[in-house]
Amino acid sequence: MAKHPTPLLDQLESGPWPSFVSDMKHAAEQRHKNPRGTNQQIPEGVIDDLLGLLEMSFEDGTTHWKHGGIVGVFGYGGGVIGRYCDQPDKFPGVAHFHTVRLNQPSGLYYKADYLEELCDLWDMRGSGMTNMHGSTGDIIWLGTTTPQLEEIFYELTHKHNQDLGGSGSNLRTPACCLGMSRCEYACIDAQDICHTFTNEYQDMLHRPQFPYKFKIKVDGCPNGCVCSIARSDFSIIGTWKDDIKIDQAAVKAYVGGEIAPNAGAHAGRDWGKFDIQKEVIDLCPTKCMSYEGGKLAIDTKNCYRCMHCINVMPKALRVGDERGASILVGAKAPILDGAQMSSLLVPFVPAEGSYDEIKEVLESIWDWWMEEGKNRERLGETLKRLGFQKVLEVTGIKPMAQHVKEPRTNPYIFWKEDEVPGGWTRDINDYRKLHQR
Ligand code: HEM
Ligand code: HEM
Ligand code: SF4
Ligand code: SF4
Repeated sequence: MAKHPTPLLDQLESGPWPSFVSDMKHAAEQRHKNPRGTNQQIPEGVIDDLLGLLEMSFEDGTTHWKHGGIVGVFGYGGGVIGRYCDQPDKFPGVAHFHTVRLNQPSGLYYKADYLEELCDLWDMRGSGMTNMHGSTGDIIWLGTTTPQLEEIFYELTHKHNQDLGGSGSNLRTPACCLGMSRCEYACIDAQDICHTFTNEYQDMLHRPQFPYKFKIKVDGCPNGCVCSIARSDFSIIGTWKDDIKIDQAAVKAYVGGEIAPNAGAHAGRDWGKFDIQKEVIDLCPTKCMSYEGGKLAIDTKNCYRCMHCINVMPKALRVGDERGASILVGAKAPILDGAQMSSLLVPFVPAEGSYDEIKEVLESIWDWWMEEGKNRERLGETLKRLGFQKVLEVTGIKPMAQHVKEPRTNPYIFWKEDEVPGGWTRDINDYRKLHQR
């Protein structure tokens, strides 16, 4: 029997999709039944009260969560997000309801027994409710009380070899796609880069020192399964330089209908016979492909490495052998300004070994942004305010054609006096000898 009636929330269970309301009701019931005899350290009725509070928010059309100040664990400036409700008398179970972020393993791999350990700990010291995974990539634990935080942190780090994730104005938990562990498209070892950067930048992760949050995400290829280009201040995306490898016989097999296009992904409906002209050649964003006389040709110079053709005919086309990463900077969701995708900074960088070249770019951006960024200004906003040219200056990267986002509308590269022969003080008469009015 529900502790609080929730007629409005109940409506959300009537739709065709799985409902978080049903999940929460189930979780509330489990807490009461307590089938594993867990020594529950926070109120048994936490989830009932959470449902009740949410119902009240729906009735009132306003949130009942408030900012109650910063909470955390000793030595860390992030990882826990303080949450308090403004109805503690009515809903004591959620008087405190802090969120804990756990640094997820690269590629989100873990063993079942490890997950079980985490769940046991959370059933004991928290609400038992999780978010797998949060938008940040972290494993998110929803709801616990302040006295539990140090206990949780101790057990996580001492027993489970598990660190907290990032929150606040610091480096957030870096995230990556599953990359080379499963995906033949991977041009770089996204998981290793993510893991390496997470370890290398522990200080940035746990001790806030930035103007605002900073996210690093790694995609193994331009398909962008973690969507680093839209979701991270520093996007590392696998790419290649040389020709896409073409197996002409396999191309013919696609054309002849012997191999299903898109690896059979759209097989649920009859789309008619595969048409290489319509579905590949004409959809190439740079029109750099042709299919004539049964032979596919790609003009590598003009290929964007968008992955479209490879995705449609994965058995015939493969990424090239000269692989590395592109680095893009400045994506963010709309908070102060509108949403923004990251902009290309380094078209190609080797991504092997200790990734020193990538770290160099990252650290020079941080040094600059920590000086110039305003409070709660994302890197993308600083870039917009001060100009993309600034980031070229601080990273020492030379302007190049690939930096031009929209030809003719954003000439953001300006010469400096010492870059112009003769500087600003050249002799105009000398100049006029060569260039008459
Ligand atoms: C009958 C004479 C002309 C016609 C019909 C004409 C037409 C055009 C058109 C259609 C564009 C492209 C606009 C765009 O990109 O959206 C353009 C661009 C331009 N034109 Fe002309 N134009 C003429 C003469 C000139 C002359 C005499 C000059 C310079 C001495 C000139 C300099 C430019 C420049 C600098 C651009 C911009 C190029 C860029 O996109 O960066 N045009 N013109
Ligand atoms: C007092 C004189 C001038 C002023 C105030 C002026 C101002 C501007 C401004 C504000 C822009 C736009 C820049 C942007 O897109 O960010 C522009 C573009 C341009 N101006 Fe001028 N201009 C002047 C003289 C000239 C002269 C004398 C020429 C050529 C003989 C010229 C050729 C151009 C061209 C070709 C562009 C387009 C550049 C591009 O789109 O990349 N301008 N000018
Ligand atoms: S981003 Fe590319 S390499 Fe990574 S999982 Fe997706 S398709 Fe594979
Ligand atoms: S990867 Fe994209 S740009 Fe390159 S050839 Fe294929 S469809 Fe064209």
